[in-house]
Amino acid sequence: MNWNITSPADRQHFAPEEIFAAGLTQHHLANTAYPIGHLTTMRPYRVTRRAGEDDRVAAAAWNGIDELCLYVHVPFCEKRCSFCEYTVVDPHQNQSAEDTYYDLLLREFEMWGRAIDSQQKTLSGFDIGGGTPALPKAANTARVIEAAQRQFRFKPGMQISIETTPRIAANDPQKMRDLHALGIDRISMGVQIIQPSLLKALGRNASTVDFNLKARDAIRAAGFEKFNIDLMYGFARQSLSGWEATLQHAIDLNPEYITLYRMRYKGTQIAGQAAQVTREQINALADLAKAKLSAAGYTANAGKNTYSRIAGDPGTSDYLTTRVIDGTPYLGLGLGSQSLSHVTLSYNAGAASKNLTLYQQKIEEGRLPLQDLYHLSREAAMGKMISVAFYFGEINLASFQRKFGVTVEEVFPHEVAFVLQRGLMEYTDSTLRLTVEGARQINGVIALFYAPAVKEHLLQLSLADSGIERQRDRVMA
Ligand SMILES: C[S@@+](CC[C@H](N)C(=O)[O-])C[C@H]1O[C@@H](n2cnc3c(N)ncnc32)[C@H](O)[C@@H]1O
Ligand code: SF4
Repeated sequence: MNWNITSPADRQHFAPEEIFAAGLTQHHLANTAYPIGHLTTMRPYRVTRRAGEDDRVAAAAWNGIDELCLYVHVPFCEKRCSFCEYTVVDPHQNQSAEDTYYDLLLREFEMWGRAIDSQQKTLSGFDIGGGTPALPKAANTARVIEAAQRQFRFKPGMQISIETTPRIAANDPQKMRDLHALGIDRISMGVQIIQPSLLKALGRNASTVDFNLKARDAIRAAGFEKFNIDLMYGFARQSLSGWEATLQHAIDLNPEYITLYRMRYKGTQIAGQAAQVTREQINALADLAKAKLSAAGYTANAGKNTYSRIAGDPGTSDYLTTRVIDGTPYLGLGLGSQSLSHVTLSYNAGAASKNLTLYQQKIEEGRLPLQDLYHLSREAAMGKMISVAFYFGEINLASFQRKFGVTVEEVFPHEVAFVLQRGLMEYTDSTLRLTVEGARQINGVIALFYAPAVKEHLLQLSLADSGIERQRDRVMA
């Protein structure tokens, strides 16, 4: 594998105790959204934008990759929720920008097609995500699916997944039918929470319980048999009783799957509220969810966020499942999308600005719309693969060895000993998996497997915070 040379920052070693403690202190940041602070932590691996160098490196990274996953980002929503971390453009632009955006997407498809000879490559998963990809006209979604069919082979039985809000599903049952007729067989609907006052405070289009039932009926009538509901926890002022009511409502909707998202504050309009939410509160909410969902027949191993009531079905989209279990590379198209080959990580333009300007400009210049491109060292790539694996609360040992030619234990001997001794992880037949206690301390555990440069960054954040706390104590005294 054509890894980059390991940077000095990625040759450091840190004591597991220290990193574990920093991960717990920085529990709002130490999660699967990796790497943290890429502009700093990945800087040594940054590919120069000079004379199309980035386009060349980005394309060459896909040589020899026969199977990949595809993600297409749709940055449109009816309204922007204040808790949202995703790349969404100002909703006032939706009408004027929609068709142009899909034209650009199709050009991006073609550019990648030529750059990586994509017709020889097979998709093992395909997500159309957002934003709210069910908001635009179904005809535009059809254009995206046709482009994917033109540019790639589809693995037989591969499933396409899409996301909707309850408002769109309830108000536009025909759209649900149209999307299903396009061959999309899994749909995910964001319910989040059901307390009207909290929804209002979070700037979310309030949806009543009856409304969600109407949305569910439209989705079922359209023929979707793989129906997921997203719920969110970890908001300031979110009570256990309110959360219990939300969980009960999701169970009453009777989806095949329920995914729990712990609120990630970074980059959201309510980032300042993170300090009001403790790990103890988070764990109490997660414990309640586990008990309630298990009692209703929805299962997930410790640390996994998607619960499924279908035996043998992990409940996630094919796109996510193969990425997590096998470490399959993924190509992300559209505004702000992330792509990961075996040796590169990149972000399309627009993730920070949340507008189309630079993305559009690059495509119109005939260039891939990349904003940040990193040629990874082996250490950096390992950190990314394991962070993604923690979506399922476990590291697939064979997949890691296949990808890196060494075992997890060889690379992380002290870290593995640490998690085993403390009862945070345990071996199953094929994985190293979080225990119930490990899931409660996941932010500490996951940090143990970060690349050294990211560990260092986490330690610095932790030290800075403890400095602020010491100062605060002094002022109070
Ligand atoms: C891309 S959104 C799409 C769903 C759709 N737009 C909706 O809101 O119903 C996917 C899911 O991410 C979750 N989410 C949004 N903002 C988040 C944040 N700041 N932290 C964690 N999860 C978040 C929500 O549960 C949401 O349903
Ligand atoms: S949570 Fe969904 S609807 Fe709200 S802004 Fe984010 S993507 Fe859009």
